[in-house]
Amino acid sequence: MSGSLLITGASQLLTLRGRGARRGDSLSELGIVNEGALLLRDGVIIAVGARAKVERLPEAKRAEKIDVDGRVVLPGFVDSHTHLVHAASRAEEYELKIAGASYEEIARKGGGILNSVQKLRAATEEALRVRALGALAQFAAYGTTTIEAKSGYGLNLASELKILGLHRSLATRQPIEIVSTFLGAHVVPAEYRGKADGTERYIRLLVDRIMPEVVAGRLAEFCDVFCDRGAFSLTQSRGILQAGVKYGLAPRIHAEQLSRTGAAQLAVKLGAASCDHLEQVNSPDIRALGKSNTVATLLPGCDFHLGLKKYAPARALIEAGAIVALATDYNPGTSPTPSMPMILSLACTQLRMTPEEAITAATINGAYALRLEATIGSLEAGKQADLAVFDVADYREIPYYFGVNNCSITLKRGQIIYASE
Ligand code: NIG
Ligand code: FE
Repeated sequence: MSGSLLITGASQLLTLRGRGARRGDSLSELGIVNEGALLLRDGVIIAVGARAKVERLPEAKRAEKIDVDGRVVLPGFVDSHTHLVHAASRAEEYELKIAGASYEEIARKGGGILNSVQKLRAATEEALRVRALGALAQFAAYGTTTIEAKSGYGLNLASELKILGLHRSLATRQPIEIVSTFLGAHVVPAEYRGKADGTERYIRLLVDRIMPEVVAGRLAEFCDVFCDRGAFSLTQSRGILQAGVKYGLAPRIHAEQLSRTGAAQLAVKLGAASCDHLEQVNSPDIRALGKSNTVATLLPGCDFHLGLKKYAPARALIEAGAIVALATDYNPGTSPTPSMPMILSLACTQLRMTPEEAITAATINGAYALRLEATIGSLEAGKQADLAVFDVADYREIPYYFGVNNCSITLKRGQIIYASE
């Protein structure tokens, strides 16, 4: 927005100041200012600090003013792993899961990701846009200001480009920032299955035909692979990600979710931006992540939705020094939620992360996972004015409450994009 805006009256202003990724003890440093205020100009933060000090600035006196009346202010959540564009829910599979069918059993019967692929290919672009816009409004309502979004329910040239094109056009039609990832290697589509060299031929399609178009259209920043049983092997994943690097797409990996494949260590070797899931990691994987700059992105919504008991070993990862981030993994098969506060609640109760660690993992470390830590993820002069106001008096109440939405205002680049009343 143009003009100046003063946000004042925060009981706690969580600045998350100090640029760069957070590990170990620094995950707990929220940089709290009690009785804090922020001065914004043209969508950028100009000043942050104690209310008495910020309010004395001449520009603050002239600025439009929002008094948040004792609420908590923090950076907007950075949700660094979502599958934003899909055609429909998979509620029909939810009942099968409750009755005891595993994710892999459902996938083997043609359900799972292939079910979503069928639905997406049949959907019009307009229907996909309307559904995605609805989800983006929900992300904003829960305090999220930036998301990563993956393709991966198209799995042919036209449908993958349709999803990635939508990421780009959605970015101009609504305020949430969208970082785009090419996930053509989600699974092998039905038409390539059960045929000699089917998987190899599909990989050739990805690398030789789709990737060049993705790059020519500047449709993605990252390339992702689902490396797991029933998806792509370690060797196949390495080949796809290395091809992506040649095209200028930085790697990230769905790693060690259902089975241990070695994908986490591959991510480290490739210098991937993140490896995500990590439920099945072993001690050498944890040590490798601890020494690397590859973010360990944890997605506890999946284990919760699938009713699985084995969550990722967050405490061991933190003790090893890993850069831990949290994300929703918003998708119709394993984690149908846009709510980062819900993910924080799960991180605290199931991953045994503290509220401080969880908030850091959902803001500045999420930004680092998207390589955007210079512009978002903390409230510091010079950064984008992306922030959330929660109707609580103490930041620990953000994960403490669950199943309710306590977000009262969300601002993106200084503009109000959600207000609860
Ligand atoms: O992150 N694991 C692979 N991809 C998604 C699930 C996608 C789906 O089931 O539709 C995930 O959990
Ligand atoms: Fe995912």
